Amino acid sequence: MKEIFVTGGAGFIGSAFIRLVLDEHPGSNIVNFDALTYAGNLENLEGIDDSRHTFIKGDICGRDEVLAAMPDDCEAVFNFAAESHVDRSIHSADEFLRTNIIGTQILLDAAREKNVRRFVQVSTDEVMGSLPDESDEFFTESSPLQPNSPYAASKAAAEFVVRAARETHGVDTVVTRCGNNYGPRQFPEKLIPLMIANAMNDESLPVYGDGKNVRDWIYVDDHCRAIWLAFKKGRSGEAYNIGARNEQYNIDIVKSLLDSLGKPHSLINYVTDRLGHDRRYAIDPAKAETELGWKPLTTWEQGLAKTIDWYRENQDWVNRIRNGEYRSYYKSMYGAALK
Ligand code: NAD
Ligand code: DAU
Repeated sequence: MKEIFVTGGAGFIGSAFIRLVLDEHPGSNIVNFDALTYAGNLENLEGIDDSRHTFIKGDICGRDEVLAAMPDDCEAVFNFAAESHVDRSIHSADEFLRTNIIGTQILLDAAREKNVRRFVQVSTDEVMGSLPDESDEFFTESSPLQPNSPYAASKAAAEFVVRAARETHGVDTVVTRCGNNYGPRQFPEKLIPLMIANAMNDESLPVYGDGKNVRDWIYVDDHCRAIWLAFKKGRSGEAYNIGARNEQYNIDIVKSLLDSLGKPHSLINYVTDRLGHDRRYAIDPAKAETELGWKPLTTWEQGLAKTIDWYRENQDWVNRIRNGEYRSYYKSMYGAALK
């Protein structure tokens, strides 16, 4: 059996990745290291095969706990652990710099000490900034890093510490840069689950600015398959852009969610725009397609239907979050209380 170390595996994408590895790669055992912040949730791991999965609660900024948890004969580190929400980073950047940068450096140091075969850094298209509206431009691996939010800046800095570990110390690294993920178990602070949860509760749907910002959406399992292939087939030191060629205006998504849920468009509420709001993300995934042999398997229509069904069928999961810390976050973020 090969040992792999996954950080942030109780979050949205990390838990989907763990499910995928357990289902599709029977030769791997997983150590899942997660601090269980507000975004980490052990319910996200319910039903998985625990004979090949060990959960350890810990902080990637804690050098000793990371070294103690990382297996001695470790094939790969997959670093999902991060503060991941742009709006929270605008409110306060401290935790983003700590976890996303210092935490990544500590993981790299530990990986070097333990002779880990490969370090996979799960990055984001947001490190490349924003593209002009309705242009022919796409993010490629040679696009400059020009992050605009504190979250994106912290993820760009993380990419630099990954690069430095490779150039200076010879750590084998691969970086993936994906666009906006959607799917089951995404924390309802993010656009799609927030809109589904609010619509299901007949609450208004807060759309920032004119609603014409564009994001490039991918079903979470397709992202996870790309991360696995980057580990298996990616060239050391390279970055791979991951996207499903699926640009959507925010407002179109919101309207289609309302239609699918049988709710009126009158629930839409245009609110003050996000500070420094990136206008458009669009990814050219040609390098991942040709070098990794990757392609997305889930269409937008299929993925959205599966996502809506999951939130409909798991309202307890949503309500437990909406009744916790999220209530005060929502009030301070949107100036309105949840019902
Ligand atoms: P998430 O917020 O749902 O989960 C983050 C997880 O990291 C949580 O389980 C949390 O408990 C854990 N964590 C946070 N700080 C930690 C710390 N100091 N030590 C250990 N664990 C800690 O995030 P997500 O949406 O699943 O994103 C996962 C990764 O993918 C992030 O690195 C993010 O930057 C990247 N990414 C996300 C998207 C997206 O659309 N969500 C797209 C591209 C890249
Ligand atoms: O592109 C990849 C990134 O996608 C990831 O790196 C981040 O971790 C992830 O959070 C996501 O960032 P975004 O800022 O694009 O996602 P978010 O879901 O917060 O917002 C998507 C779009 O919807 C964005 O244009 C802002 C808008 N929006 C969002 C919220 C929460 C609204 O209009 N209203 C809202 O209430």
